[in-house]
Amino acid sequence: MLRFLLLLLLLSFPWRISASAQPAGEFLQCLSLRSRNSSSIASLVYTRHNSSYSSVLDSSAQNFRFTTPSTPAPLAIITPLHASHIEATVYCCRKLGLQLRTRSGGHDFEGLSYTTAYKAPFVVLDLANLRSVEVDVEKATAWVESGATVGELYYEIARRSATLAFPAGIGHTIGIGGHLSGGGYGNIFRKYGLAADNVIDARLIDVKGRILDRKSMGEDLFWAIRGGGGGSFGIVLAWKVKLVPVPANLTSCSVTKMLEQNATELVHQWQSVGHILPKEVHTSFAISRANSSEDGKMMVQATFGSVFLGTTDEFLPLMSVKFPELGLSKEHCLEMSWAQTTIYATQFRTGLPLEFLLNRTQVSSLSKSFFKAKSDFVKQPIPVSALDGLWSKLYVEEARSATIVFVAYGGIMDEIPETETPSPHRADNLYTVLYVVNWGEDENANSEKYMNWMRRLYDYMAPFVSKSPREAYVNYRDLDIGANKIDNDDDENNYEKAKIWGLKYFNNNFDRLVQVKTKVDPENFFRHEQSIPPLP
Ligand SMILES: Cc1cc2nc3c(=O)[nH]c(=O)nc-3n(C[C@H](O)[C@H](O)[C@H](O)COP(=O)(O)OP(=O)(O)OC[C@H]3O[C@@H](n4cnc5c(N)ncnc54)[C@H](O)[C@@H]3O)c2cc1C
Ligand SMILES: *[C@@H]1O[C@H](CO)[C@@H](O)[C@H](O)[C@H]1NC(C)=O
Ligand SMILES: *[C@@H]1O[C@H](CO)[C@@H](O)[C@H](O)[C@H]1NC(C)=O
Ligand SMILES: *[C@@H]1O[C@H](CO)[C@@H](O)[C@H](O)[C@H]1NC(C)=O
Ligand SMILES: *[C@@H]1O[C@H](CO)[C@@H](O)[C@H](O)[C@H]1NC(C)=O
Ligand SMILES: *[C@@H]1O[C@H](CO)[C@@H](O)[C@H](O)[C@H]1NC(C)=O
Ligand SMILES: *[C@@H]1O[C@H](CO)[C@@H](O)[C@H](O)[C@H]1NC(C)=O
Repeated sequence: MLRFLLLLLLLSFPWRISASAQPAGEFLQCLSLRSRNSSSIASLVYTRHNSSYSSVLDSSAQNFRFTTPSTPAPLAIITPLHASHIEATVYCCRKLGLQLRTRSGGHDFEGLSYTTAYKAPFVVLDLANLRSVEVDVEKATAWVESGATVGELYYEIARRSATLAFPAGIGHTIGIGGHLSGGGYGNIFRKYGLAADNVIDARLIDVKGRILDRKSMGEDLFWAIRGGGGGSFGIVLAWKVKLVPVPANLTSCSVTKMLEQNATELVHQWQSVGHILPKEVHTSFAISRANSSEDGKMMVQATFGSVFLGTTDEFLPLMSVKFPELGLSKEHCLEMSWAQTTIYATQFRTGLPLEFLLNRTQVSSLSKSFFKAKSDFVKQPIPVSALDGLWSKLYVEEARSATIVFVAYGGIMDEIPETETPSPHRADNLYTVLYVVNWGEDENANSEKYMNWMRRLYDYMAPFVSKSPREAYVNYRDLDIGANKIDNDDDENNYEKAKIWGLKYFNNNFDRLVQVKTKVDPENFFRHEQSIPPLP
């Protein structure tokens, strides 16, 4: 027995070394040979031997579920300064059979840009250094590199013009690369559509290491990268986007009601109102636990939020006609620039310097925490009794810091054809739902408790939301909605399995995405747990 154990030790030891250390060495060697500027590329590569490996790996990772010691970590992290470094990385990963994960802002809900559920060794290409933003006010366009955050783009726009904006998300630390790859919506999307709807050109590095623009990649690939989800078609270096006009002053309003103050009735009514308000109005409801009242009673609150492309004096009369039950008044509202509305949405205050948008470590409930999230689309108002049931789920311990956000659809989203870009959730949606549950470091050993709470909540909602398929938003990545089990590497990207989540994210656009993938990356180099599969 002892001899057998010794033998096992002897056999396994060298294997462990070759599985980690040696390929890193080979990879480095390959990079140096491949890169025309070998002196500079070595200093951009971090392996476990570099003391800053962990801090670089964790730098933009937003979901702490994937920064634990048991999370599979990359063989190396490359932080390119130049397209040629990316070309060399792609070349060497293919040559050595390493998988590649591209990271821009690290906000993927399932950590797909910096970890993997596969057994295979992988490399992280972190684009954080490629973040230039060039705004052309005259033409109302901008070239923005993928490693920039949306906040850096908003800052640069605001610095040049008080009346231009870009219709992307409102968590300002979100990376441009992943966000535009998956659609991207924010507080003016009912007027201007998704971020990806406003992309007019792009520079992409394909599997062969070529740099392609819209013209040379062709309209099929250009269509696919604007919403087909990141990590499937290549590495987008930069995007040319169309900027949109906004007034110098907008109106942001916020009203919080306790359920005891008829909040359920309000949310119920809003379901039939939000999606038919003028395009200039963005509205949402965030439902969460409030502090218990003095007699110790647990409370739930619903916070109505809105952004209006105009003044308070225009907005209040409009709301008193369309949604009088809310009782919106001047004291609920503030006027501010569009850039400030994006800060107000997460900080609930004004007057912070615009430089706040450049801070990459700002904290919100979805950033830099342990969380699980899911999404839904709602086509018919949910009855009051069902809403009551939903709120009751918030009374349990696991839901301490859970939030459910309803965001009204409609406006231009009703007018853009489903096939225009890969994001299919357009007409006929009243609103979308984001469910989030957070927990603290001390509770991470019990993370399953929170994950299961989220899954029960999702099951509870099934009768009231979109069906066949139950639609989901690819930028709110959710590995639960795919096949239940990862059998092995090759099987995971199998078309039939991928179709399960593929139809939910992309509906009838899924097959076109598969066709593009088959054409541009038939060997499935750009892959992750939910990347678009090529046909065999
Ligand atoms: C705090 C927070 C707030 C959010 N707010 C919003 C919001 O208001 N609206 C909204 O629509 N969404 C929002 N999201 C979701 C967000 O849009 C997605 O998580 C988005 O994919 C993040 O992009 P990223 O570059 O930060 O992510 P990453 O984790 O870097 O990448 C996401 C995916 O895209 C791939 N990818 C990254 N860069 C590239 C590239 N250059 N080329 C090709 N593929 C690439 C990655 O491999 C990965 O698969 C939010 C998320 C968080 C955590
Ligand atoms: C090569 O490396 C040097 C030193 O880091 C740098 O100054 C130069 O810009 C690099 N050239 C290219 C083409 O990357
Ligand atoms: C990592 O360590 C190697 C070997 O010591 C070194 O050459 C390289 O410059 C280091 N990388 C960084 C980013 O510091
Ligand atoms: C709640 O709604 C009911 C029925 O619509 C109404 O009678 C009651 O006055 C409302 N209560 C509050 C506090 O607004
Ligand atoms: C709850 O109470 C804590 C401590 O008193 C406070 O910091 C927090 O802001 C309160 N939260 C809400 C939602 O009122
Ligand atoms: C915007 O609104 C604020 C507050 O109402 C006001 O002080 C400011 O002058 C307005 N700015 C513009 C450009 O209209
Ligand atoms: C960025 O935000 C974090 C968290 O709010 C804060 O600790 C840090 O000081 C900020 N950094 C800068 C440069 O303002």
